[in-house]
Amino acid sequence: MTLAGAAARRKKTPPGADTAASRPAALLAWYDRHRRRLPWRAGPGEMADPYRVWLSEIMLQQTTVRAVGPYFDKFVSRWPDAAALAAASLDDVLRMWAGLGYYSRARNLHACAVKVAQDHGGVFPDTEAMLRTLPGIGPYTAAAIAAIAFDRRCMPVDGNIERVATRLFALELPLPGAKPEIGRLAATLLGEARAGDSAQALMDLGATICTPKRPACALCPLSADCAARVRGDAESFPRKTPKKAGELRRGAAFVITRGDAVLLRSRPAKGLLGGMTEVPNSDWKAGQEDAAARRQAPRLAGLSRWRRRPGVVSHVFTHFPLELVVYAAEALPRSAAPDGMRWVKIAELPGEALPNVMRKAIDLGLARSVKPGT
Ligand code: ADE
Repeated sequence: MTLAGAAARRKKTPPGADTAASRPAALLAWYDRHRRRLPWRAGPGEMADPYRVWLSEIMLQQTTVRAVGPYFDKFVSRWPDAAALAAASLDDVLRMWAGLGYYSRARNLHACAVKVAQDHGGVFPDTEAMLRTLPGIGPYTAAAIAAIAFDRRCMPVDGNIERVATRLFALELPLPGAKPEIGRLAATLLGEARAGDSAQALMDLGATICTPKRPACALCPLSADCAARVRGDAESFPRKTPKKAGELRRGAAFVITRGDAVLLRSRPAKGLLGGMTEVPNSDWKAGQEDAAARRQAPRLAGLSRWRRRPGVVSHVFTHFPLELVVYAAEALPRSAAPDGMRWVKIAELPGEALPNVMRKAIDLGLARSVKPGT
């Protein structure tokens, strides 16, 4: 740029304001001051450990940064690298994962560690393309690991980055179709170096400033030429195509106790909540009548009468919401578990790979009835 051009530009741009070309630097300067201290992040100027980056990214697909913290710490202290995780039993990994949801991710996590240990000498490959060949690593995770752990110049796009980018450019195209365009726009925020920091800066910006509701635009390093802020409707981005909600499925869960133990079984290895532990329960069907679900209760000789617990257990899976009615009954002291089921001490339930929906059903099944007035 000529000196005259630079002077003209300086005149038009208010002090401190950013322009398209200066956004990457503005973003990184903000990150250097305001980055969140997270257990998987390297300190300023250090390279992050690919194993920790990978583990955190898989966990962060499930839940919030705050909820991931304790799980991440437990995993890395027990299994400090890919080889250690590969040598663990899948059951132990599933047990440690319990509560994070989507157990297929935990299976893939273990399968990925095994592949890294066996095919890559325990070292994660350092390109997006090679990372994509590993179990459980899709386009987002490959880009995140490549950028954060290996400083490859790529931009992973998560929900936070989608929000920041669509607001910055006031993108009218609705999600999910807008994803490729959002990827292109977000990539314009990469500088020449420090791709991982640019990506994490956008994640932090989305989590702390460019929030879904009431974004704090006054604190944003990109606010000066944020198209949505100028229009005054930042909250309305990203645009979304209305989703058809899955139909509500209904069923029954049967909580049978024998003294201090409860009757459990394992779900089939493949499919929803594959391999997880559950109490016996009916099939889950849209429009299922309570009576039809109740008829699927397991039969044990000498079982007490069934008591229907008040209320229902509700859970929302990716493709459908579920409501389970819970029935409780007591078995005789020496009653044998039916085929494929087992008695597990109530005190030992925390060590079982029980998905949240089943923990809720057991809690309701074991809750004492409170008589009115007592
Ligand atoms: N969400 C997903 N990955 C993240 C990261 N590395 N930092 C903060 N939030 C994230």
